[in-house]
Amino acid sequence: MDYQAVLDYIAEAVTPKFGKGRVADYIPALGSVPAGKFGMAVQLPDGSAFKTGDADEPFSIQSISKLFVLQLVMSHFGDMVWTRVGKEPSGDRFNSMIKLEMEHGVPRNPFINPGALATLDLLMSLKGDTKHRIQNYLRFLAMNESVSVNETVMRSELEHANLNRAMAHLMKGYDNIHMDVDALLETYCFQCAMEMSVADLALAGLPLATGGHSPVHDASVLSVSQAKRINAVMLTCGMYDSVGSFAYRVGIPAKSGVGGGILAIVPGKMSVAVWSPELDAFGNSYVGTAALELFTSLTHTSIF
Ligand code: DON
Repeated sequence: MDYQAVLDYIAEAVTPKFGKGRVADYIPALGSVPAGKFGMAVQLPDGSAFKTGDADEPFSIQSISKLFVLQLVMSHFGDMVWTRVGKEPSGDRFNSMIKLEMEHGVPRNPFINPGALATLDLLMSLKGDTKHRIQNYLRFLAMNESVSVNETVMRSELEHANLNRAMAHLMKGYDNIHMDVDALLETYCFQCAMEMSVADLALAGLPLATGGHSPVHDASVLSVSQAKRINAVMLTCGMYDSVGSFAYRVGIPAKSGVGGGILAIVPGKMSVAVWSPELDAFGNSYVGTAALELFTSLTHTSIF
């Protein structure tokens, strides 16, 4: 398969789709990102990588960070994480609290905002600086020491984090948050404001495509079972309340972020990342979803 030709074809084919979504601005610093950006990258287990467009430009990974924090938590705590969050799709918006009180402060999954807060809370119970732990992990996975946080985006979100703060307090009321809420929110905004390119993300996602052992990293990052389980949670919860139509259209596990990135995994074969900042009504990249739909159709890589 000529992946370079496929990526270049997709970059061209998606151009009519620009202008139909909306760049996230509920975090004001994200609103100034140029809407027309597009980058896509593929990483194969043999080390070969392919990319097109703005594939080396770092952008705000936002909720894609939840995938990596979940990996850290599963590595350190194993199945204990499932006492703090569920593994069912919520059917609600990523920042909804509607079920949180009815379900006694236990979020449906680790990818909606309350679930990510509870997951991070568990990670923060480890000794040491959690921000450094997250940053070091991303640098290791992306094999790129320049991966770092955008302080402006982090501050901007922290100043507009009322909903996330409310969720954290509600969960603390149910004893499902143990850390100080201010420290938790600051660390959460830090993880979301990390910046990576699609080339970085595709490489960082590779262990999920290779049963946890990445030949490129020459390391077992996750166990086979952890990689399987995380892919399952991505498939069922990674795209929030449009997870069904994403499975229908694209057909591979994926995790999105409101920065416009999507990291998708073709289990056993490769990881693929795409970035285009305009979002659909569910907070997922509009053009990015279309690009991934074309990718799995052209390369026959849907798992279905
Ligand atoms: O907490 C928030 O709202 C953002 N930092 C992350 C949300 C997000 O990326 C949802 N994904 N599509």
